[in-house]
Amino acid sequence: MNLKDLYINFFISKGHKQIPSAPVVPENDPSVLFNTAGMQPLIPYLMGQPHPYGTRLCDYQKCVRTNDLEAIGDTTHHTFFEMLGNWSLGDYFKDESIAWSFEFLTKVLNIPVERLAVTVFAGNKDIPFDEVSYNKWLSLGIKKERIAKTVEDNFWIAGESGPCGGDTEIFYFRSEDAIPDTFDPDDERWVEIWNNVFMQYYKDAEGNVSELPKKNVDTGMGVERTTAILEGVKDNYLSSIWLDVINLISDIAKKPYVGNEKSMRIIADHLRTAVFIAADRAGIKPSNTDQGYILRRLIRRAIRHAKALGIDINSDWERKIAKMILDKYKGYYQELADNYDIVLEVLSNEKVKFNRTLEKGLREFAKVTSNHHDIDGVTAFHLFDTYGFPIELTMELASELGLKVDEDGFKEKFKEHQDKSRTASAGKFKGGLAGNSEIETRYHTATHLLNAALKQIVGPDVHQKGSNITDERMRFDFSCDHKLSEEEKKQAEDLVNQWIAEGIPVTVQEMAKSEAIASGAECMFIEKYPDIVTVYSIGDVSKELCGGPHVKNTNELGKFHIVKEEASSAGVRRIKAVLE
Ligand code: ALA
Repeated sequence: MNLKDLYINFFISKGHKQIPSAPVVPENDPSVLFNTAGMQPLIPYLMGQPHPYGTRLCDYQKCVRTNDLEAIGDTTHHTFFEMLGNWSLGDYFKDESIAWSFEFLTKVLNIPVERLAVTVFAGNKDIPFDEVSYNKWLSLGIKKERIAKTVEDNFWIAGESGPCGGDTEIFYFRSEDAIPDTFDPDDERWVEIWNNVFMQYYKDAEGNVSELPKKNVDTGMGVERTTAILEGVKDNYLSSIWLDVINLISDIAKKPYVGNEKSMRIIADHLRTAVFIAADRAGIKPSNTDQGYILRRLIRRAIRHAKALGIDINSDWERKIAKMILDKYKGYYQELADNYDIVLEVLSNEKVKFNRTLEKGLREFAKVTSNHHDIDGVTAFHLFDTYGFPIELTMELASELGLKVDEDGFKEKFKEHQDKSRTASAGKFKGGLAGNSEIETRYHTATHLLNAALKQIVGPDVHQKGSNITDERMRFDFSCDHKLSEEEKKQAEDLVNQWIAEGIPVTVQEMAKSEAIASGAECMFIEKYPDIVTVYSIGDVSKELCGGPHVKNTNELGKFHIVKEEASSAGVRRIKAVLE
């Protein structure tokens, strides 16, 4: 059995429910392009909202991190990885969490205790030394020399604000050397494999820390790293997760892995990430903005490295590799099976597109570097704009010649270009709802009415989880633990139509965020809003933090009709509706 199955089975045996992996593109959180940790999709539940699956959860979550593309090509970094996690939402705390981690590592994975060491929170002026965790580890048989007390590494938060807390990290001694008696977290032979965060606090954007309503546990273990460790390999790409892909690339290139590691790792890593992004239900396609641009950069960089290995780009090399990846993972992720052909098409189309300009671009690159001068921002942007060279590709080619690229200059030009191409579709990352056409504005107001109606008909726990509006329809995602009955749908629809018929005025007010929240205004993610917020009210029916725009009166909406109600993700339902 592989690590993922062992892990999930173990935590199910400890009363946990397995939840499905959330999409790599977050559905309810426009502030990040991708999910970067297992806990990210669980933030609302860590903050107190009840989870429909209960208080003990476990999963494997797809994560994408693209902030460090240059590191890819070494033995341990990946742009896509899977994170194993188990959570307590106000259920068990330090005692069980630590005991189960220890049991899983020593009894299920059979790791000898001598190879393990841990860190615990040493304490600072705000938070005391974590004596409970320290004593628990001692009682389980970890010697005190192997328990390091640190401050810096033992407080965990995703980014700047959000749920957070002290943690205890578990390390494995990954070396043939004799194991030193005393654990030194800075000794690189000790590798962190698991992090148990005791999430008791919430840090807001201003840095104020408050207690969460419940004490939670959030843990994370990287599948790639732990698998490599268990299999005794130091290069992750030689573990069972990657070896077949690397061998296939080596067959296609007719070159050995040794001596060509960097390009082969980049191809394997980037194509796997591209497969997962393209297969995501969000339907991302290569483009020059947001997630689409990341997808484009990954595919193009993989193509460039395939070319460097002498692979015939026009052959179906990328399909062969992508198929192997799809086949490996589709049993775990249904969307890979569902979107199998779409993924292959996305890769081929992007390849064809890039191939048209790649040769010319490489010639242009040779020309602009023939004088051995560093590359300025304008030239780098020209290579991007005319030949489709993403900046890191230009930088990589330049560094092979010992030249530098003015990255800031490029970014400036790129931003100018993005601002221009964005004006038409502005708004996506502002209020969450795009577009200002008259019909979209009507749908926007209908969204607020539907939200309010569902709260009355289904229950006060209904909250908006996402929304998408086009000229033709609205889509509304909301938290709810059951499929709506025909009656619930009918009642919600009737209530919205009643409010439309009543001709209720829509009013807008600016107020301090704290005042808005105190007045009971509805909002999705409070920490995302500035201090002064815009609140739209529809009579006494609805009050929401929102960027607008809205109609002036509900009588402008027309007839509201629910077309479809379906599952969206765990605990989230989706309604499609039209105004007729
Ligand atoms: N959220 C914690 C991490 O990512 C478990 O390390």
